[in-house]
Amino acid sequence: MNQTQIIQWMQKFADTIEKNKDYLTELDAAIGDADHGINMDRGFKKVMEKLPTLANQDIGNILKTVSMTLISSIGGASGPLYGTFFLRGSTAVMGKQELTPEDTLKLLQAGLEGVIQRGKAQLGDKTMVDVLSPAVEAFEQAVDDEKTTEEAMENAIAAAEEGMKGTIPIIAKKGRASYLGERSMGHQDPGATSTYLMLRSLLESVREEVISNK
Ligand SMILES: Nc1ncnc2c1ncn2[C@@H]1O[C@H](COP(=O)(O)OP(=O)(O)O)[C@@H](O)[C@H]1O
Ligand SMILES: [Mg+2]
Repeated sequence: MNQTQIIQWMQKFADTIEKNKDYLTELDAAIGDADHGINMDRGFKKVMEKLPTLANQDIGNILKTVSMTLISSIGGASGPLYGTFFLRGSTAVMGKQELTPEDTLKLLQAGLEGVIQRGKAQLGDKTMVDVLSPAVEAFEQAVDDEKTTEEAMENAIAAAEEGMKGTIPIIAKKGRASYLGERSMGHQDPGATSTYLMLRSLLESVREEVISNK
């Protein structure tokens, strides 16, 4: 995966967030405070403003700027959590213009570890960790099996989707939704949903470059 694809990833995710802004906010209305779509859209609009200045930067620095932008522009739990994901991810790939499947795995792993350290959520707490964690695991398995980045991302997305749907029947243990206790059951977690969309945007970006190279 190259530097252009990383920028494309951010563009695609920003577009997807804009299209799903109301949906994410509705999910948050059910078990939170109805601002997740608004928060994410605000943050990624700011990221879009910064992208033109990043064209010649290495992947680590691009992701670091994304992180700083999100931390300073998103209020709520998701700002620091997404900010930490990209910050820790950026340090794992600092100075690189191109990522091997192993590098991308390190990026995703570091991001996940950051989110867990920052938010203290475990698997099954009905948060973005329920998507990130199985996705990173599936990606790692694929890398161990010497799959390409695209194939590894396909596996990650399948696991991410399952993780996202898996947040529906469970009780929230972290974040605002946890205040609802059992009443949080039966609703899909908004942060898990946006995280799934983030990974899907990554897969789309990886695929596009493969096609345009042919
Ligand atoms: N401690 C945590 N660890 C991981 N993710 C969390 C945590 N707390 C909240 N989240 C995620 O943040 C999402 C809510 O984001 P958002 O609505 O933007 O922030 P807020 O809850 O402050 O309104 C949740 O759906 C959940 O996925
Ligand atoms: Mg909210």
